[in-house]
This record gives sequence, structure tokens and C-alpha cells, in this order.
Amino acid sequence: MAASRRERGQRPAGRSVERRRQGRFPGAIRLPGIRPTALPARDSAGWYERAVFYEVFTRGFFDSNDDGVGDLAGLRAKLDYLEWLGVDCLWLLPHYPSPMRDGGYDISDFFTVRRELGTLDDLVALLDDAHRRGIRVITDLVMNHTSDEHPWFAESRSSRENSKSDWYVWNDDDQRWPEARVVFVDSESSNWTWEPQREQYYWHRFYSHQPDLNYENPDVVDAIFGVVRFWLDLGLDGFRLDAVPYLYQADGTSGENLPPTHELLRRLRKEVEADYPDRVLLAEANQWPADLVDYFGDGDECHMCFHFPLMPRVFMAVRREQRFPLAEILANTPEIPPGCQWAIFLRNHDELTLEKVSEEERDYMVAEYVKDPRMQRHLGIGRRLAPLLDGNRKLAELLYALLFSMPGSPVIYYGDELLMGDNVYLGDRDSVRTPMQWSPDRNGGFSRADFAQLYLPPLMDPVYGYEAVNVEAQQRNPSSFLHWIRTLLQTRRQFPVFGTGALELVACANPSVLAYVRDSRPEPPDSLSDEGARRGARRRDILRQGSRASSDPGANPVLCVNNLSRFGQPAELDLARWVGRTPVELLGRVPFGRIGPAMYPVTLGPHGFYWFELADERSPVTGDEIFGGSA
Ligand code: NOJ
Ligand code: CA
Repeated sequence: MAASRRERGQRPAGRSVERRRQGRFPGAIRLPGIRPTALPARDSAGWYERAVFYEVFTRGFFDSNDDGVGDLAGLRAKLDYLEWLGVDCLWLLPHYPSPMRDGGYDISDFFTVRRELGTLDDLVALLDDAHRRGIRVITDLVMNHTSDEHPWFAESRSSRENSKSDWYVWNDDDQRWPEARVVFVDSESSNWTWEPQREQYYWHRFYSHQPDLNYENPDVVDAIFGVVRFWLDLGLDGFRLDAVPYLYQADGTSGENLPPTHELLRRLRKEVEADYPDRVLLAEANQWPADLVDYFGDGDECHMCFHFPLMPRVFMAVRREQRFPLAEILANTPEIPPGCQWAIFLRNHDELTLEKVSEEERDYMVAEYVKDPRMQRHLGIGRRLAPLLDGNRKLAELLYALLFSMPGSPVIYYGDELLMGDNVYLGDRDSVRTPMQWSPDRNGGFSRADFAQLYLPPLMDPVYGYEAVNVEAQQRNPSSFLHWIRTLLQTRRQFPVFGTGALELVACANPSVLAYVRDSRPEPPDSLSDEGARRGARRRDILRQGSRASSDPGANPVLCVNNLSRFGQPAELDLARWVGRTPVELLGRVPFGRIGPAMYPVTLGPHGFYWFELADERSPVTGDEIFGGSA
């Protein structure tokens, strides 16, 4: 059936949209025919601290109108699946109009939905439906740059005297700010590109078709704050702030993490908090921990930050079969202010970035994980989780056990819950953006369009192709990876300490074993300032909602023991702090021997892991065998 005009996103822009396009942002305007969605009833301050996120490439998720491209209505049709899986918040890759030369991170209009994905109405319907199910939705917001096809840039580049002439960063030569590195080293040789119309160079930290906005210009700040309000008014639950370290430049600096960038984020947070109190700002800042943590400010910048340095170290640790890389980064991760949370991930829509490892570590990762030079992308590896692990299910289970138990809110990349594969012969990062595999039917059940019409070919190889790996088959098989991960998610949900608890590394002589305890944080003392007191009260609120009385199973500490080796390993754990408690294995609720004063022995299978609730005498468990002498 042919798609209607509306399905194809041809809804005429409303007057309010038009007004905003003209650059006036008079606050909370409602779009005609579109009402803001109700927020989930389940809402609570700090919801993101305990949430499991799911990253969706809408284009590749499900095609509702058979044009070969996934869309918002298609995503909405799959909410049953996402609810069944048990995720709390969707993160949508950019949904804005775009020439699509950088997966939509090259925006040509901030105020509507890209036609191939549907309409604003479709987005609102998705939000409504997701919220009804208690699922939140955030999207990407690219603040740093636009597409060179954005009308702002068209005007800015046209001459040196126009109303947008300094909305971008222009210079007469290409020598300024030589200390700023080129991010996309394999495709760009400079951060400056010549513009013949204006006879000047423009600044860009990414592709040359993505000119950086000039945040020194207050009109640009107003315009972007207007964008934020526009989408929050429609009911979005927040943003992933793309490429946020690069908003300002300054002589003699790398142009990253500069004070005015943090100042701007504080302003943004203040405005968001004042008018949209339970929304979330998630920083994409690929930085070292010490710089990264600045994006939380004093709890007054972003609510969340991706923990970039942690991710490659997961892969390093399991390949070395040694805990050191992980234990080190966990120990060196600074404390974050109350109400803040890390976003942790194994894979995403980009390459496995190796920017935040040493050169030696980078060489090691490339030697271990890059079997073919075509797998390298920018400064990283363009592969999905399963192929990186050579399809080893036990190892994948271990990595998810780590992801779901380390401090932070886990972010699952679409398809990785099935152990989908990749196609390294596709250009740029399309290698990891192939269609979601729903069934063994035509095009993997993603679309009923002709194969040739699909935005990218689905995987069809015998190992990872849609006939071998798909949702339908895995839902029917109770032993599938999909069912396993769902069970793990449900288990995690019962223990709020996974979200909000502190982490304490447990000493163990075997270097292949990484053990830690997740336990509630002590209540923060009320600070002298009103702001501190408010945050303290909010933290207590979260702890109250998140944990229960200590006789309650959900309130106990959880001991996580991970075997990073492919062989069985013995471990003797120093659990002196927990003497008298009984470790109860969480997946089977099997009590192990009670903890005594001596080292606690555990035997782990190849790539095995345990999550143990450390039950006290009030918890309803039966095991009373004592290891290492009596308490
Ligand atoms: C970060 C995004 O994750 C990536 O996909 C994009 O290429 C860059 N920002 C530049 O926009
Ligand atoms: Ca479609």
C-alpha cells in the first residue's frame, strides 16, 4: 500500500515551527495538532541513575511503510519488544533533516523530523506510547556543528556581511589554533576548510561538511537553547549532547574542555532544571577521567557522562585475561557528585574508539582485534560486540555481567542483545549500522521493500546473517542469548545498588579474577549551602525509592566475581568486612557457604561470573556452612 503524504513526513510545518525557523524563540509554544506527551507516571528524580538505556538507530530498526528505511512508526511498532526486553530509556540517534553524510550528525534543520523517519506527529505518538509503558526517550542533540547544507551556514558563507556572518567560526588563514587535533584523522587533514564565496576558512572539528557553530555569538546560544526547549516541550526526556567538549576555541589550547564550554553547560542545566526538572543531559565527551568528570560540574552541568575510558579496557582485560586494565580504571575513576551517573557501554554506533588509551595499548588492541585493515575506522575499530569476541557466547555473557554490575547506567546498542554481527566492507561506520534482524523472513523482517531499496543490506552470512541470528528465533528459544540477557536485566532491576551503590574492589591473589562489592552509599551529610541541602535531600529520596530496609533482599550489598580467563580459575577473596553474611547466588538464589574470617574460596568456570547477594542473618536464606573457620 502506498504511504500517505503524512506517513512520508510531508505534513506542512505549523506556524510555530515556522516562527522558530525564522529565529524567534518565544518560549513554550505548542505545535498545532501536536500536544506535549504525558510524562511517565513512574517518574522520579534521578530515574536515569537506575535506568537501562537502549540505543536505537531508528533508520535501521523497523520499516513501517516499506520504503527500505526504518522509521519512527516502525520503532513504535516494536515497543512491545523493548518493553518485553526490559529497557527503561531509548536513546535515538539524530532524527533531524540531514544530508546523511555523517549518520544524521550533520543537521540541516533543528526543528523537525527527517522525512524518511516520519513526522513530528509520529515522534509524539512514539513518546506517548513509550511513556505509557514507563519507557523514556532521549535523542541526540548536536550542539557543536551543523551540516554545511543548513540555511544558517548557507547564509553565513555567502558573504562577510549578512545576519549570520558570525554564526560560524571564520578566519583569513588556516593557521590558527594549531594545537587542536584533527579528530577524523583518516579523512580530514585540517580543522579549516576554504570557502570560496566568502574567501575565508571555516572551522570544523569533524568532517569538513560540518562547520562548527560560533558560541561566542549570543544569538547562536539563544538559537540552540531554543532548540532544546522545542524538543523538551514536545515531551522528550532529554538529550545526548554530542561532541560537547569542542564548543569553544582559544589560542594556545587544544580547544577541548575550555572553561566557557562548562559555563555554557551550567547555563543550559539551569534552564532545563527550572522548566523541565526530570529530564536528563548526557554528555558525549571522549576524554580522560579527570577531564570527563568536569562535565558533571558540581552536580550543576550534565546529569550523565559516557565513561569512555572504561569501554576499551573491558576488551583489553578480557583479551589479556587479566583484571589490571579494568581494576586500574575503576580505581582511578573519580567520585561524582550526588545525582550524577555514568553511562557505560560496550559498543555503540561508532567505532570502538582507541583515543583514550596509551599508544602501546592502542597497538595491542589493533593487533588483537583488527584481523583486516578494513576493520579500522578513524582512531578505532568498526566492529560490533559479537564479532569482536569471535562469537564466544560465554565471553559475551561475561561482558554483559560486567556492564550490568559496574557503576553506571548501562547502554545496550541495538542488535547487541542478539549478538548481531557487522559488515566491515561497508564504508565509514555503516559496518555496525545494518538492519535489525527480526526474523528469518525477507530482509530479516526489517522491511518488505525490495532488497535493492534498503538503506543498507542486512547481514546474510551463515554465522551472523538474519537466518541464523534474529529476534523471532531467540524469543522462541528459552536458552537463547536474548532470554539470558533479559533475565540478567530483571535480576539487576531487583538490586538498586547496581545503579546507585558505591563500588569497592575486593582483594584477590589471582590476577585473572576481578571482584567487587556494590553497596549503598552512606547518606551524604547536608551541605551548608541550600543547593547542597537540596541535592542531599534528593539523594536520600533516591535511596529511599531505590533501596529497601536492610532485611529486604534488595537492600543487601552484592558481590560480583568475574573470571576474565578462558580457563577455570580458583579465587580466594578477602571478604573480612562481610564476615557472617551468606553469599546467595542471584540467578539461581542458591546460598553458598557463610563468610568466615579467613579468605573466602570461590571456583569459577571459563569466563564465569557470579553475582552474590551478601545476605545478613535477617535475610531468608538457608545455607549455613561456614568457610574459613567460624565467624
Ligand atoms: C559523535 C557521534 O557519535 C559520531 O557518530 C559523529 O560522527 C561525531 N559526533 C561528529 O558529529
Ligand atoms: Ca520507512
